[in-house]
Amino acid sequence: MKKILVTGSVGQIGSELVPVLREKYGSKNVVATVHKTMPSQEFLKSGPYEKVDTNNKEELVNVLKKYNIDTVFHMVGILSAVGEKKPDLAWKVNMESLKHVLDLAKEMKLKVFWPSSIAAFGPNTPKKETPQLTIMDPNTMYGITKYSGELLCNYYFQKYGVDVRSVRYPGIISWKTPPGGGTTDYAVAVFYEALKNKKYTFFVKKDTILPMMYMPDAIKAAIDIMESPIEKIKIRLSYNLAAISFSAEELAKEVKKYIPDLKYDFIPDERQKIADSWPASIDDSNARKDWNWKHKYGLAEMTKDMISNLKRELRK
Ligand SMILES: NC(=O)c1ccc[n+]([C@@H]2O[C@H](COP(=O)([O-])OP(=O)(O)OC[C@H]3O[C@@H](n4cnc5c(N)ncnc54)[C@H](O)[C@@H]3O)[C@@H](O)[C@H]2O)c1
Repeated sequence: MKKILVTGSVGQIGSELVPVLREKYGSKNVVATVHKTMPSQEFLKSGPYEKVDTNNKEELVNVLKKYNIDTVFHMVGILSAVGEKKPDLAWKVNMESLKHVLDLAKEMKLKVFWPSSIAAFGPNTPKKETPQLTIMDPNTMYGITKYSGELLCNYYFQKYGVDVRSVRYPGIISWKTPPGGGTTDYAVAVFYEALKNKKYTFFVKKDTILPMMYMPDAIKAAIDIMESPIEKIKIRLSYNLAAISFSAEELAKEVKKYIPDLKYDFIPDERQKIADSWPASIDDSNARKDWNWKHKYGLAEMTKDMISNLKRELRK
């Protein structure tokens, strides 16, 4: 990983991945791509960036050649809740742009990181400690693109030897950039609303349990799997990845420890159906065994860190 391109750099994960990669590999060696939303001046000044629509193969080729890129973190995506409103767009962005990246990886010998999701599972997948190899019957367009993407990555590895590595991220919790329209967004929104208005209405039922992860762990997973020696990567679909699982009510109670007058209730909307089709906890023993995956943040540590960072940010 000497010259890195990060697509989707302005998104929830990309915007935090870019600074960590720049710190580690040198600012000029990490090229960020922007699309329709412009990031802050601070972000733009921190290293090279290019405007790229990843559905446009020509634009991708030009940037890859211009910077002599050898590694791509392909973080572009249309997430679950938005994908249910715009299924055609989700298919187009999630599948076509991945296919472009994989085709170019084949031609230009690029190493690729591409995130899948717990959305690749479906209603008939075992819900507790979901195994690595299991029933996959996603019923959202987002989940369908994630599972299809996994199959495509595996195909490009088996047929063309493309070194593409992937993890099935759970819901990601973070404070720097708002989430991009997923089903687990309530786990971020509760922090903002608790600090700003001292009240929050969850859009899922109180006993909805979903697997989650704090952003520093998500970034660490992406870098760890990419830095692992090739012989350690035994799964080319996508690795199960886990950190914490908690119910919406458990999260509310944890946040209330810091904001005692927080009022909360639970009024499920259409996202409940999506949440119900996903696992409650994940068996990620393959990732732990193969490339030594370890998470750092539990519910208590994550909540403490979120509150202290967001308090400071909201004061600005
Ligand atoms: N955030 C999570 O909880 C989570 C969980 C599991 C998997 N993932 C996966 O991780 C990846 C990144 O997720 P995120 O939360 O940062 O998403 P996000 O929605 O915050 O960011 C995605 C970015 O992609 C960009 N984009 C969309 N269409 C584009 C196009 N045609 N060309 C160029 N850019 C385009 C958007 O502008 C956006 O900045 C996605 O593949 C997502 O499916 C995220």
